[in-house]
Amino acid sequence: MRPRDRASEHLRTAAIVVAAGSGARLGADRPKAFVALAGRPMVAWSLDAIAAAGVPRAIVAVPPGHAAAAEEALAGAAGDFPLGFALVEGGATRSASVRNALAATGDVDAVAVHDAARPMASPELFSATLAALEHADAAIAAAQVTDTIKEAGPDGLVVRTHDRARLWAIQTPQAFRADVLRRALDVPDDVLARATDDAWLVERAGGSVRVVESSPANFKVTTPHDLAIAESLLC
Ligand code: CTP
Ligand code: MG
Repeated sequence: MRPRDRASEHLRTAAIVVAAGSGARLGADRPKAFVALAGRPMVAWSLDAIAAAGVPRAIVAVPPGHAAAAEEALAGAAGDFPLGFALVEGGATRSASVRNALAATGDVDAVAVHDAARPMASPELFSATLAALEHADAAIAAAQVTDTIKEAGPDGLVVRTHDRARLWAIQTPQAFRADVLRRALDVPDDVLARATDDAWLVERAGGSVRVVESSPANFKVTTPHDLAIAESLLC
């Protein structure tokens, strides 16, 4: 598909990249999304994939107090987003960061939310989740679980073994109909703080959520070991 076709396909779409976490488990000298990965700030890899998917607007939630450094680190990205590129201050939780960024998207029909901590996400994965919104309120990248999953009690005794064929490990991007995401995020801060992903907020509001098959290669960089693997894959 030619780039121009892709751009028109996603004309009323915005991407939100949440990059406002501190990265405590990585333990670097700066917020995780701005740590160097294969010579660039980690978040730059995700912005490349989003632009290559033809999404014309991007909002990045950055750590409070880090706006000037973030602006400098991402100065080159603005030109890749013809309909808008903005940095906003993140919140105390991941979902609060999403809510702050959502307020800056302008009038769009669809939003793809992505963790800066997943630098391996491909342009095709952004396009596939956005395309799947035709059949659901939300469409989320997910990898089929390959390990057997057992549930154990506090005493360590196994109480059941789950049916692996129906289990998915959830990733980002997560694409949403914009009005559905706005309503789902309009909840008290304590509910927002319990959300480990945005799709859960849509589920609890009764919305339909579909999985879009992804690969374990779209892993989240959490520890120094993960960073070393991402570095070796991107170099
Ligand atoms: N995030 C955010 N705002 C927060 C917390 C997290 O934007 N208040 C973002 C992170 O920047 C990351 C994504 O949410 O891209 C997933 O979070 P996680 O991997 O947990 O990153 P951190 O919270 O930065 O890492 P840690 O939990 O180790 O501190
Ligand atoms: Mg965290």
